[in-house]
Amino acid sequence: MGSLVLFLIVVGFSAFHFGSHPPSAIVYVDPERVDEIAPFNNPGVHKVEGKDWDYEVVFVALAFYYNPPEIEVPLGSKVKFIATTKDVVHGFQVAGTNINMILEPGYVSEYVTTVDKSGEYLILCNEYCGLGHATMTSMLKVVE
Ligand code: CUA
Repeated sequence: MGSLVLFLIVVGFSAFHFGSHPPSAIVYVDPERVDEIAPFNNPGVHKVEGKDWDYEVVFVALAFYYNPPEIEVPLGSKVKFIATTKDVVHGFQVAGTNINMILEPGYVSEYVTTVDKSGEYLILCNEYCGLGHATMTSMLKVVE
């Protein structure tokens, strides 16, 4: 098991150096088993303890929506976004913020940020992924 993990990490890093996957992604996940593999078997907002961030927000993208369709986090919290896609390449951009990731099948994309402004932020797909591309959205709510 340990060597398998090492193998996957090495594969991930090699791919990283050849630029064939998103720079924010260094972890591999089998796109056909996303629903069974943690943390993607439990999409949504999760409070965590003992880490450098307060919440982990897990997203699964597929044509043409995100799971979950909406999330809510407290103002001022440090959040780690963890996302992947089950089918084709999708984007993950949170309008009005610096959060902007490419999601590629087989890879986990991550972004850590502190949400320091309350409001509602549209999460949208900025990689053309098919007929439903323009309607592919989710919503981030930052609440006091
Ligand atoms: Cu998903 Cu465009």
